[in-house]
Amino acid sequence: MTAVAENFVDFKNVWLAYNDELLAQNHFAVEDINLQVKQGEFIAIVGPSGCGKSTFMKLTTGLRHATKGSIHVDGQPVNGPLKISGMAFQAPSLLPWRTTLDNVLLPLEIVEPYRTHFKEKKD
Ligand SMILES: Nc1ncnc2c1ncn2[C@@H]1O[C@H](COP(=O)(O)OP(=O)(O)O)[C@@H](O)[C@H]1O
Ligand SMILES: [Mg+2]
Repeated sequence: MTAVAENFVDFKNVWLAYNDELLAQNHFAVEDINLQVKQGEFIAIVGPSGCGKSTFMKLTTGLRHATKGSIHVDGQPVNGPLKISGMAFQAPSLLPWRTTLDNVLLPLEIVEPYRTHFKEKKD
């Protein structure tokens, strides 16, 4: 069995400016996040619109790179989109022209390593 890092999610002094222009103005979407989540721990982040909840999720899942600081998930630095993560959206994001099952299968159709074998294994 592989050892699991003590802190499954580990943010150290994480800042994010969404682009160079905002960075030049010292305008950060999130500032100096320090947060650790242990394996199996359940956390909720609550705050007003625009406080950085979605930005935090984008950083954790590797959809955005931190401008400063370090982010580790399961002991590995996050440098790109994480395959082990999933996100449930606040608003419905189903494709109305697909069946329920085809909506559920959509990620497997798009994301490697599943997409390569999707057609042959679909049944
Ligand atoms: N793509 C973007 N470009 C520039 N600023 C952004 C972008 N997305 C979010 N922001 C800004 O980052 C801050 C945090 O936003 P966000 O993480 O979406 O907040 P929440 O999810 O808590 O409502 C806000 O000031 C928002 O305007
Ligand atoms: Mg949000």
